[in-house]
Amino acid sequence: MALSRTLKSRVDLLTEIVPDVERLYNRHLEAPRLWMPHEQIDWGKGENYGDHPWSESDYPLAEGVRSSIYVNLLTEDNLPYYTHSILAHAPKGHPILDWNHQWTMEENRHSMVMRDWVHISRCINPTLLEEGRRVQMKKAEVPEPETFADLICYVSFQERATQIAHRNTGAHLPKDDKMGRNVLALVAGDETKHYLFYRDLAMAAFAIDPSSMMIAAAKQVTSFAMPGTGIPSFTRHAVRIAREGIYGLGQFLRDVLEPVLTVWDVNHLANLSAEAERARTDLAGVVEKITASVEKLAQKAAATPSALA
Ligand SMILES: [Fe+2]
Ligand SMILES: [Fe+2]
Repeated sequence: MALSRTLKSRVDLLTEIVPDVERLYNRHLEAPRLWMPHEQIDWGKGENYGDHPWSESDYPLAEGVRSSIYVNLLTEDNLPYYTHSILAHAPKGHPILDWNHQWTMEENRHSMVMRDWVHISRCINPTLLEEGRRVQMKKAEVPEPETFADLICYVSFQERATQIAHRNTGAHLPKDDKMGRNVLALVAGDETKHYLFYRDLAMAAFAIDPSSMMIAAAKQVTSFAMPGTGIPSFTRHAVRIAREGIYGLGQFLRDVLEPVLTVWDVNHLANLSAEAERARTDLAGVVEKITASVEKLAQKAAATPSALA
């Protein structure tokens, strides 16, 4: 019974959202970002690793920033599995397929340009990076949203989170690494456009099937994890990245949850089913809990310097 309801809802939403997918895909194409990965790299700065093996002193950097570059690049490496996961919700002939192909094409250059910069600048250990890539890609571990509603909620949060993570990592690089700052700004700019596509597609889906979308949004917020859980020592890196102020619970709340949920106007949606009303209450409870945790963390951080003094 529950299964047939889920399937029916998924089919209806996919059919009715076709004009919105087309509209938003066309909007995306109107402002193409045609930057060239090879033009972003100062190739003359490179040195053979055989002549000059990597060492931390090649590029002094806080460990949280190194962790962030490592995790963000490996996440981009995992693209094939994200593409696969999205394709699972794209029936033959549906315009979401065309979007998916465009998105994959744009995402593919992120790992290329980041790896070129990493290898030339020596900002992270290339051996560790390659070992991490092997482990992660063999696992093929990515989120697999159950329904189309789940999918577009998840990717809205994920693209926004990725945009913030790349942007903040760039801001933590030394001022004289113009190559790195430029590379991460270009990648973050692409993520911004992907986020806008998914966020507005989800908004259109809320108008078509508010109850399914509310249930999906609550589920995705409750279970949200940054992409990259298959990366070796992911939790250790995530803690370092949060401590550095690049991406953590505070950024998730202020820069991801609050703006996305405000645009979707989840607090004022009408005509929700009883199950969706319960989901809205659950969602508000989760946001409240996260807010309390973020405040607690901020108080702890504020108390730390005086404790040391
Ligand atoms: Fe990307
Ligand atoms: Fe992206």
